[in-house]
Amino acid sequence: MSSANHTPPVVLLLSGPNLNLLGEREPDIYGRATLEDHVAVARRAADEHGFVLEHRQSNFEGELVEAVQAARNHAAAVVINAGALTHYSWALHDALAAFDGVVVEIHLSNPAAREPFRHTSVIAPVADGVIAGFGGLGYGLAIEAVARKMSESR
Ligand code: DQA
Repeated sequence: MSSANHTPPVVLLLSGPNLNLLGEREPDIYGRATLEDHVAVARRAADEHGFVLEHRQSNFEGELVEAVQAARNHAAAVVINAGALTHYSWALHDALAAFDGVVVEIHLSNPAAREPFRHTSVIAPVADGVIAGFGGLGYGLAIEAVARKMSESR
């Protein structure tokens, strides 16, 4: 962002259920890095683009819905790994549909290559795009995608 008169855009990174257990949880699938490690990657990428990264993790659907609602008129973008809520939370779908900024869905694993219940995302239809299957690398890619998308719409 070029103008010194504007406050830096906020990117809200949202982490859903069980992502607080990353590092210990099914490391064969999700790796050994912790959520804090992934947030640090996202924060570094956000810094490089002049964004302010805010992060929130919750195991509760309603808290995530409220976080998306609070992002209205506050954040320029939402990057969301909704965990298992990805596959069935129409409440998160609706909250994101009411958010005007850029939305990037992210997953460490590639849900399309896993059990059938993971093949549906109810978030994807209200996201600008999805990054999945690249592990922690995806967090940096997601911020890069936000930057590209925002520069397109300027
Ligand atoms: C996940 C994939 C989801 O299917 C799963 O429920 C998760 C993590 C991922 O990052 O790969 O909790 O979102």
